[in-house]
Amino acid sequence: MTTTKRVALVGCGTVSSNHLHALLSVEGICVCALCDVRIERAEQARDTFFPQARVYTDFDTMLREEELYAVHICTPHYLHAPMTKAALARDIHVFLEKPMAITAEDMDALIEAEKNSRGRVCVCFQNRFSPAFLRAKELCDADGGIQTAAATVIWQRTREYYTESGWRGRMATEGGGVMVNQAIHTIDLLCQCLGKPTEVIATCANHHLKDVNDVEDTCEGIIRFDSGKQASFFATTASVAQKDITSILLFTAHHTVEIRMPYLYIDAETVEKTEDDRWFVGKACYGSGHACLIPRFYEALEGGDPMPVSLVSARAAHDIFLAAHRSNDTPVSIS
Ligand SMILES: NC(=O)c1ccc[n+]([C@@H]2O[C@H](COP(=O)([O-])OP(=O)(O)OC[C@H]3O[C@@H](n4cnc5c(N)ncnc54)[C@H](O)[C@@H]3O)[C@@H](O)[C@H]2O)c1
Repeated sequence: MTTTKRVALVGCGTVSSNHLHALLSVEGICVCALCDVRIERAEQARDTFFPQARVYTDFDTMLREEELYAVHICTPHYLHAPMTKAALARDIHVFLEKPMAITAEDMDALIEAEKNSRGRVCVCFQNRFSPAFLRAKELCDADGGIQTAAATVIWQRTREYYTESGWRGRMATEGGGVMVNQAIHTIDLLCQCLGKPTEVIATCANHHLKDVNDVEDTCEGIIRFDSGKQASFFATTASVAQKDITSILLFTAHHTVEIRMPYLYIDAETVEKTEDDRWFVGKACYGSGHACLIPRFYEALEGGDPMPVSLVSARAAHDIFLAAHRSNDTPVSIS
């Protein structure tokens, strides 16, 4: 007889409902603990999703008092590395929201900590498993593969988005702006398409909300890959338009496939809708990928299989945002 695995979540803010909603349909687990420094948020998550869960305001106390199989980490960026290390030290598996960490030292330390633990870490790059991305890759592969790509992330984030969070917009707590928070998914997909990044040339700027933010709201540049291929990108949270648009153009020998989840535009003529709106939970820009990736994480743990998004495979997108921050319009190598 298999026993029910005990799972917890820390950080019951905006994105946590995507995790908790997905966890409702994972078999063989129970969400037994929820933690947030703002207890009312943990209580609301409990009342909405898992009424039997215990509520905590301190992460270490939760780790000490609960015998956990896995923990979902949905806290501000600067807490990702220390919380993941604390869980791994107790051999607890971690489903970790992006970014994995905000400094290169912490990224190295996490990869090392996982090697010394029986716990495994999966990073939440859910868009790798979105039907739109998988279908786009399939179409490109059928035409001999992707030759080059261009991505735009044009979003608007308001003053309140930063001032009310207590952590966004600050280098010390967010680790950067649009590159580390909003564009990192798109950058990760470019790496999935074109290979290992070797060089970045970029410019970053803070155009608006200068009085509240010390991070970039806009960044553009070129990424070169070991395959010899290149991608260009432009990302901003300073858009004046209220609708967030993320577009990835994939160029093959004869065609252009544009991903605008959940839609694909093939040669700007044919439109395919790759999934039903009912799969979307929370903000539309998150896509439906949490519901695709979270069950895969538990299946991989159960089967002893590689993590669907390992720390090592997630590292490339992180190296790119670190290089973009340093570039200042000169090429930065990525080893
Ligand atoms: N994968 C995605 O598409 C996606 C989408 C949105 C956010 N995210 C990521 O999820 C994480 C959280 O983002 P969010 O928008 O939900 O932020 P949020 O600010 O809404 O939520 C964070 C929560 O963590 C809590 N918290 C802060 N310090 C804590 C501590 N020491 N112990 C326990 N709880 C603590 C806060 O009170 C808050 O409720 C970020 O890493 C973000 O980048 C990912």
